[in-house]
Amino acid sequence: MTTHGTYPGARPRRLRQNPAVRRLVAETRLHPSELILPLFVREGISEPVPISSMPGVVQHTRDTLRRAAAEAVAAGVGGLMLFGLPEHKDALGSAGTDPDGILQVAIRDVVAEVGDATVVMSDLCLDEHTDHGHCGVLDASGKVDNDATLERYAEMARVQADAGVHVVGPSGMMDGQVAAVRRALDRAGHQDVAVLAYTAKYASAFYGPFREAVNSSLSGDRRTYQQDPANGREALRELALDVAEGADMVMVKPALAYLDVLRQVADASEVPVAAYQISGEYAMVEAAARNGWLDRERAIMETLISIRRAGAGSVLTYWATEVAQWLRAER
Ligand code: PBG
Repeated sequence: MTTHGTYPGARPRRLRQNPAVRRLVAETRLHPSELILPLFVREGISEPVPISSMPGVVQHTRDTLRRAAAEAVAAGVGGLMLFGLPEHKDALGSAGTDPDGILQVAIRDVVAEVGDATVVMSDLCLDEHTDHGHCGVLDASGKVDNDATLERYAEMARVQADAGVHVVGPSGMMDGQVAAVRRALDRAGHQDVAVLAYTAKYASAFYGPFREAVNSSLSGDRRTYQQDPANGREALRELALDVAEGADMVMVKPALAYLDVLRQVADASEVPVAAYQISGEYAMVEAAARNGWLDRERAIMETLISIRRAGAGSVLTYWATEVAQWLRAER
């Protein structure tokens, strides 16, 4: 007990009294290199198409994609995550394994544009490419067929790596997907291509705006493969499996509603942990800010700091370039 005749004896406010001391004792900081920018590229358009539920985010043309990638790199962003939207979708998601499919074309474009100045990543999943909108192929009864899907993922991994991607991000939550992808990469001579596994991915309402972003026509839901929001324990099981199967990095997704899961995964993981601040998290803040209901910049920074504080080493966020520019201006 500190008693020197004054009351109260402990004054935590001393370390909050001005910006200099607050800066000195801040435990968590953001750096541009920890931010990963997701980007959408759409086949067959000549102008970027705005995504109405994600104000400020667009479906890029090949041309504007290159420019957005260069702008992100100039701001110091640590990575890019590419999503391709093919003009023609079918039940197998054929565009996803076509060497000239839009995602593969975009990977080649972006790698040519930015080289090794940032880490180029690609979404490895079928939902952007299938006409039914599911993350896998369907069996005769209409259910998502896990093992048939793994074969599609293995082929996707090969064509994405052939196109020059540095990191693939299997995001379909099929059992065994990391092992299938790792094996396919190794067999094709792509030992150096890393796997960022979407390890704990929840069946979330916050993916809503993403459906518009990738023109997905999903009917039904993803609850037979994505995790139940009620559960934390299975995130640790998925983590153990993904690391055993060869994941180089793991991810928790969404971020804000799952900070407890993120903390548990960060504490248990032997590999770097990322978190994905998804479309609905973006839309929520943008909508409130547009209404004048909250301070946009402060809200964005607070969410990102919270995700870092909960244990994420890197964060996928649609604000990556803008935030990286703010961070640079601060110095
Ligand atoms: C699957 C995938 C999704 C997102 C990223 N990868 C959609 C889903 O699983 O339902 C969502 C990203 C976002 O909402 O910002 N390809």
